[in-house]
Amino acid sequence: MICLLSLMSFKNAVVAQDQKGTSAIMNKIKVEFILDKGGRPTYNMQYDGKPVILKSQLGFTLNDNTALDKNFALVGSEKKQVDESWKPVWGEVSNIRNHYEQLTVHLKQTTAPNRLLNIVFRVFEDGVGFRYEFPQQKNLNYFVVSNELTEFSLAGNHKAFWIPGDYDSNEYTYTTSKISEIDNQKIVNASTNIAVRVAPDRYSVQTPLMLKSSDGLYINIHEAGLINYPAMQLHVTGSTFKLTASLVPDAVGNKAYLHAPCHTPWRTIIVSNKAADILASKLILNLNDPSVIADPSWIKPMKFVGVWWEMQIGKTTWSYANSPDTLDAKGQLIPNGLHGANTANVKHYIDFAAKNNIKGVLVEGWNVGWEDWFGNWKENVFDFVTPYPDFNVQEISSYAASKGVKMIMHNETSGSATNYERQMDTAFRFMNKFGYAAVKTGYVGKIIPRGEHHDGQWMVNHYIRVAQKAADYHIMLDAHEPVRPTGLQRTYPNWMASEAGRGNEYNAFTTGSPPEHETIMPFTRLMGGPMDYTPGIFKLKGYSSADPERQVHTTLAKQLALYITMYSPLQMAADLPENYNAHPDAFQFIKDVAVDWDDTKILEAEPGDYITIARKEKNSDNWFIGAITDENSRNSTISLNFLDKGKKYTATVYADGANADWKSNPESYQIKKIAVTFTTKLNLKLAKGGGAAISIKPL
Ligand code: NOJ
Ligand code: CA
Repeated sequence: MICLLSLMSFKNAVVAQDQKGTSAIMNKIKVEFILDKGGRPTYNMQYDGKPVILKSQLGFTLNDNTALDKNFALVGSEKKQVDESWKPVWGEVSNIRNHYEQLTVHLKQTTAPNRLLNIVFRVFEDGVGFRYEFPQQKNLNYFVVSNELTEFSLAGNHKAFWIPGDYDSNEYTYTTSKISEIDNQKIVNASTNIAVRVAPDRYSVQTPLMLKSSDGLYINIHEAGLINYPAMQLHVTGSTFKLTASLVPDAVGNKAYLHAPCHTPWRTIIVSNKAADILASKLILNLNDPSVIADPSWIKPMKFVGVWWEMQIGKTTWSYANSPDTLDAKGQLIPNGLHGANTANVKHYIDFAAKNNIKGVLVEGWNVGWEDWFGNWKENVFDFVTPYPDFNVQEISSYAASKGVKMIMHNETSGSATNYERQMDTAFRFMNKFGYAAVKTGYVGKIIPRGEHHDGQWMVNHYIRVAQKAADYHIMLDAHEPVRPTGLQRTYPNWMASEAGRGNEYNAFTTGSPPEHETIMPFTRLMGGPMDYTPGIFKLKGYSSADPERQVHTTLAKQLALYITMYSPLQMAADLPENYNAHPDAFQFIKDVAVDWDDTKILEAEPGDYITIARKEKNSDNWFIGAITDENSRNSTISLNFLDKGKKYTATVYADGANADWKSNPESYQIKKIAVTFTTKLNLKLAKGGGAAISIKPL
């Protein structure tokens, strides 16, 4: 007996010295925390017994030349289980289950100054989130992070869907390659259409990073709740398949300025053997804090049109004059005759919106400054309240109100966040005065404060300040060129959408994005939140005044399907009214499609290849389906078994025409109405670069 006891305590002693493991499990997901030799914190993760993340380092270096990555002792740990549900203000589903096991490990350094660090793991059925917490303590008060050392040691040379790790842009096309082949240099150098590119590490990628293992595991790595911290990029060690956190630096090279008690954002790893589960995951939203907006009744998802695509394609201009120096004898700008944001044209869009069940109208180029707005790192470009002489803001807002249409403001900051912060209250008061329901912001250009990056800690906080300020004025927000989303729309539900990726607009001012682009985006950029992708282009060729050969790399039916597959509560009908009027039958889908949902079913999905999604309109029995494919044509059979068993429905199918092809025949489509029930199986034939959109309404 005595002998056995001493043997046991000896064994424990060995464990304590070498590695102390503790784990959390939720169904197939297991995460283990091990304090390794030298008191180094590490973790590993499994899915159904298969390794997803091999033993990986955790910790930091601080810029006082100390390290928080070794000499730790485990001074305590605790676990709890949570199973609750909550209702988002808007979303892909109206009810979200938040079910996890949480493991918190309390670490203390064994060497002076004996700093404390907690690591919290939340293990869900579809993945894990973990974050670092710095408790209040005497020897760590204000501190500066010089590096986060978090690793994600992948178990194999997976297929990766990636864009370069750029401090200022997420607007690249995706590359599909093995982890070991990742090298972004050529892509960064060739992407001259992206306004600001800063990608000093050729072996780094952005998150969300989508991965597929050779044995069929789908893995998505991102972050949740990015507040007061820079965005995390991933440095890739191609030889060992190891990814290491790489934080976007500030103007002097530091990463994050923190004050304990505080915590980092969550690092997220979503995993499944089904690609559809990655798109259905609510893990990132669940890791964000609940809404801070007590009365969200003024937040209303909507579709909008805008004086916008016509500038993108060169039909009209944002600017009123051709240059800031084209002045008449009185010193007034001489109009170029092409200014899009003129009162008559705006009224035309308002009429079109009112007639077609579209709630919002965006107008860009309405305020003075567009003659010289970009490229000179100028601090004071726009004042956000002074219209051009041909834009009668009072007349326009009265007209919109009389037609029941909401105006959407455009505040392009040209990267000068300091100027915007100074003007914000004035800008939002102006929006309130003239009845604007939402604002689209923009950050094209190098950031001011000079030296800061779009994705650094300072700008991360700026975008949140804008969302908060907008909420104070009951304004909804759509941010272009911000850091990519991390689920903050749960906390700030007036932050409806962001661009933060390569939108449809690249088909206007460049040779465009490949047909597979939209089959990758939901697995990457959209994992963190809605995208203002601006779908709905009907004139798919011959629209560009810069280049007659330019075309969108999809069919018309695929443009319709994007309203379902590219989720956003603000959804633009991006093309010109005249192009919609040329196809009223196809435009009917855009008129009908909802933007807020009770339920979502990911029917089929494979990153880079195809996606089919069905969604049930909020507080309605209508369903909408979008199916898209890449450059390959595709036949697919979908079951409508999600429909109510007792009901009969009419489905309107907007499909590619028999000879449709994104390149040679993109505008060919056919529309069929058929009776369907929950037993119906629909055969869909998607053209190369094609799609199908279906609206299903009860009889
Ligand atoms: C880039 C935005 O993505 C686009 O939508 C906008 O029209 C221009 N900036 C001008 O602000
Ligand atoms: Ca953009």
